Amino acid sequence: MIGANKYDVQVIEMGTVPTGVRGLDVLMDGGFPQGSTIMVEGAPGTGKTTLGMQFLVHGAMKDGEAGIYVTFEEFPDQLYSDMLAFGWDLRKLEAEGALRVISMSPDIFIEQIVEPGGLVEKLIRQIDCKRIVIDSISLFRYGAAGEEEHRRMLYRLRNILRRLGLTSILIKERGTMREESGFEAYISDGFIQLQLKQQMEKYRVRTLEILKMRGRRIREGEHVYRLTDNGIRLIPARSMVEDLALLNGQEKVPTGVAMLDELLEGGLAQGSVYLLDTNSKANYKYLIASVLANRLRAGDKVLALLSSFLTPQDLHKMLALQGLSMGELAKEERIFFIEHYTRPYPKDCESSVINVNGLSNEKYREVVQEKIGALVEGSGNWFIYYDLNTVIAERGKDFATKHFAEDSAGVKALCMTMMVLCNFSEIGPEVSAFLERTCNGVIRTWVDGAYQYMQVTKSPNGIISEPYVVETTTQAPFMKLI
Ligand SMILES: Nc1ncnc2c1ncn2[C@@H]1O[C@H](COP(=O)(O)OP(=O)(O)O)[C@@H](O)[C@H]1O
Ligand SMILES: [Mg+2]
Repeated sequence: MIGANKYDVQVIEMGTVPTGVRGLDVLMDGGFPQGSTIMVEGAPGTGKTTLGMQFLVHGAMKDGEAGIYVTFEEFPDQLYSDMLAFGWDLRKLEAEGALRVISMSPDIFIEQIVEPGGLVEKLIRQIDCKRIVIDSISLFRYGAAGEEEHRRMLYRLRNILRRLGLTSILIKERGTMREESGFEAYISDGFIQLQLKQQMEKYRVRTLEILKMRGRRIREGEHVYRLTDNGIRLIPARSMVEDLALLNGQEKVPTGVAMLDELLEGGLAQGSVYLLDTNSKANYKYLIASVLANRLRAGDKVLALLSSFLTPQDLHKMLALQGLSMGELAKEERIFFIEHYTRPYPKDCESSVINVNGLSNEKYREVVQEKIGALVEGSGNWFIYYDLNTVIAERGKDFATKHFAEDSAGVKALCMTMMVLCNFSEIGPEVSAFLERTCNGVIRTWVDGAYQYMQVTKSPNGIISEPYVVETTTQAPFMKLI
């Protein structure tokens, strides 16, 4: 065993097969996993056939991957003319050996595909087929003796497609029974649902949702798509946020929590405002300490309005554990505090504390604005940590929200990065919605039962993550997302 290492793991390169549907691939890290079986479900007219054909045509024309389209329609002539409307000349592709459209009964198809060396396998060999679309598997149901047999057949089909190395789309007509999707979702590697939805009474909107995609991080939620003259075009949800264009070339501010930075594609965007929505039980101090330590280490300056949960002593200790001296930083005028509770600060930090206890709201605002103004005149980047809960508790909800939009606009304009702590459940849905709109990103953390969770629910790059479990660790940053 030369150089064998017990930690060596065999990395199996899993290829990616682009779908050819603009906007869809970005929802799943570039496309379908190679060789996977994907179920596409939807009611009649949602665009399943179009999606399947677009996948094959793109493979044939752009990726050099030949494909087979299996239809159970007796006369597929209509299909050829329908697809021509999207600019896809199926006959031409067939003549080039890049595509086959096969029309046969479901029974015969199954009979042929299960047979090694049968008609279907021959066709696959003939054109070196890499992709297949079966339109639709719902028709197998009628051939099967019962539910048991239907399932066995689907399972067998899935295994054969895998063995043949085909990246497959199995189209499924949306049934009336909701629960009947269970088995299909279970046996397939991916499950995509197409829907036609009523919107604002008189409009209808088509939405696509990826419910499952093995080995891929997916962008969750319903994404709107349109049928255009070039086929299906999908608009990833939240890509309307104005920041996308601005984000190009924008610096990222890492939080120091590895998984969170990955979700945020490098970290918090410089010049942006993020909300940290937390319920009272959730422990957020490690995240805050980690963000602050990272900024300070990178040479930034910090202005912090600490919550009652995160005491100056806590922060002092946590920064020390990260090798930073709060006293030194205060002396270098790189860290400042806005203090509402007249809490004691470590001796060497006292010069950095702006005590606002007992100040009227007007006076408070004046002092803070003046301080921020003075800070900006200096050099370097600023990071602001602002506990909105404290401001709400001490100065009232009206005051806190009234100035919020203006303040965050100012912060953005000055290219400062700000993290705002608040508790959506305490401030109510209206104010929460307002704050959410005003901010560039929202990170949520909450406790449910024995676990704490964290999720990115809004970010300038449009990414919405699934909820992660927060685990505390003994080393900086003292937390981890699982
Ligand atoms: N160029 C086009 N622009 C807009 N809609 C189109 C265009 N071509 C076809 N359609 C619509 O696309 C739908 C066809 O979708 P199709 O893929 O056949 O759905 P399914 O297979 O789910 O029944 C129809 O509702 C049709 O009206
Ligand atoms: Mg169809």
